[in-house]
Amino acid sequence: MTAPIVLGIESSCDESGAALVRADRTIVAQAIASQDEAHRPFGGVVPEIAARAHVEVVGPMVGRVLDDAGMTLADVDAIAATAGPGLIGGVMVGLVTAKALAMASDRPLIAVNHLEGHALSPRLADPQLGFPYLLLLASGGHCQILEVRGVGDYRRLATTIDDALGEAFDKTAKILGLGYPGGPAVERLAKEGDPAAVPLPRPLKGAKEPHFSFAGLKSAVLRAHETGEYAPADIAASFQQAALDCVIDRTSRALQAANGMTALVVAGGVAANAALRGALQTMAVDHGLRFVAPPMALCTDNAAMIAWAGQERIAAGLVEPGGDPLDFVARPRWPLDPDAEPARGAGVKA
Ligand code: KG4
Ligand code: ZN
Repeated sequence: MTAPIVLGIESSCDESGAALVRADRTIVAQAIASQDEAHRPFGGVVPEIAARAHVEVVGPMVGRVLDDAGMTLADVDAIAATAGPGLIGGVMVGLVTAKALAMASDRPLIAVNHLEGHALSPRLADPQLGFPYLLLLASGGHCQILEVRGVGDYRRLATTIDDALGEAFDKTAKILGLGYPGGPAVERLAKEGDPAAVPLPRPLKGAKEPHFSFAGLKSAVLRAHETGEYAPADIAASFQQAALDCVIDRTSRALQAANGMTALVVAGGVAANAALRGALQTMAVDHGLRFVAPPMALCTDNAAMIAWAGQERIAAGLVEPGGDPLDFVARPRWPLDPDAEPARGAGVKA
């Protein structure tokens, strides 16, 4: 018998995705559609535009990955979709699609927490990665440090009290007129600048709790830019240095608070940043830990990680034989660790 296969659907932000993933970690087929072009004129993701784009793309995309794999829904064992957290209009599109497919094919629905998708994606790429591991999850929407103890078992050690790290890169790019998404553009320009040229703050550096804050850094970047005294490349380099100083300080603080970690893992779109990867790798070596950074296609939002989270939930016995209820309600907020204390001063971020 071949390993069970799960169809995954992702639509929580500005990427629509569908993927077929086997329990033996084979990604049988996958598709991803980015909406960068649609949101670029606005310098950030516009929820209504995102939801409409998912409506157009998600259904046909599921058909395409099944065609690519030479399969029909009858060959699929379960249908997993992101059910939150995220932009609610988009989440509803993917979840409703999955419910309809589950109902039509009499297959179980698996309602996946998008953050669990990110948290377990490193195990799709790396069969050697066992629990527990420390995960830095840094994207445009999330900035957390989690102890990943097992499937469905997470302890959040840190979150951001204002902006996510990717958001800080995107806002810096906007200030410097570099376009959207900003992270890659800031990283590129930073290579030409002096990271010590602009004096910038390191918010929360040295604080006891390992939480993050980037709003003050972003404001300082804006003020520095408005003086007209600094070259954009120097601002980009100084911003990146300040942001990474914060991340390294906060992550090493979290490592002190964690117990028995087997690896240091980074996921989320900001994991594309080579300077960040390098600094984390050094930290891992210093602590005698393995460093794991999944391939970029698995770090940014994608459906393979959602299908894989479905596989992990099945294997862990967390999915009822009939699947999750078809009236499962999409959740704009859905913390992985419901017992985590709110960070002091925390705003709207989950
Ligand atoms: O995970 P992702 O694709 O989408 C979500 O936000 O969920 O992450 C996108 C974020 C954006 O903020 C983008 O600017 C940032 O990741 N990013 C980077 C780099 N590549 C992408 N930030 C810093 N350096 C990069 N090379
Ligand atoms: Zn994400």
